[in-house]
Amino acid sequence: MFIDTHCHISNKYYNNIEDIINECLSNKVNQMILSCCEKDDIDESLQLIDKYNCLYATFGFHPDQIDKITTNDLKKLEQLLKQNKKIIGVGEIGLDYHYPTDKEKQKKLFEEQLIIAQRLNMPVVIHSRDATQDTIEILKKYKVKGVIHCFSGSLETAQIYIKMGFKLGIGGVVTFKNSNLATVISKIPMENIVLETDSPYLTPSPFRGSTNSPKYIPIIAEKISSIKNLPIAEVAKLTTKNCYELFDLK
Ligand code: NI
Repeated sequence: MFIDTHCHISNKYYNNIEDIINECLSNKVNQMILSCCEKDDIDESLQLIDKYNCLYATFGFHPDQIDKITTNDLKKLEQLLKQNKKIIGVGEIGLDYHYPTDKEKQKKLFEEQLIIAQRLNMPVVIHSRDATQDTIEILKKYKVKGVIHCFSGSLETAQIYIKMGFKLGIGGVVTFKNSNLATVISKIPMENIVLETDSPYLTPSPFRGSTNSPKYIPIIAEKISSIKNLPIAEVAKLTTKNCYELFDLK
């Protein structure tokens, strides 16, 4: 069986969530961790994890939410993280310098949530775009473990994160022709890899251009299986084990 460790499931993106879930289950994607990272998605995400056994979630505020989040929202987030057993991590949180932004404000929101994760001893899911240096510097200040979501950096960066105890979330990018990720993956141990789709974004090849779904996880696993020269069943087993250990799932 496979787990999608990072997807965004919402009626905003899918007409029929029930169908999406059933398609996942018939493609051996038996569990999915939904990333609830916008304030407006909280209620829907809570309903979904309550309704479907196979759904878990991470909750946290994405850096693009900096102008919406108040101290009260952070308090509410911490309460949810503490109370709801199906919320198993903090994220996605981090830094995104791709578009012009207030970097200091982003760092503040990021650190506030790292403090919460540290206090609750929960894993974090990190979003880092065009901000590798600052992400590493900030993470070094806290005692947290977690996933570098949608990792697509250099081997050197991969090794830094691994040394810090992070796993790399590998998704559809690995199937893209122009990606260097396959070379990086060939040089890092399987124990540092978890699978993710980031649905509805980053659809793997050959379905690029259509809406992504967690049901495509086996395509990503297949690609890793060929890079690592491992049977796909082994990729499924190892990445599931990594995810279970990190998120303390049973
Ligand atoms: Ni995401």
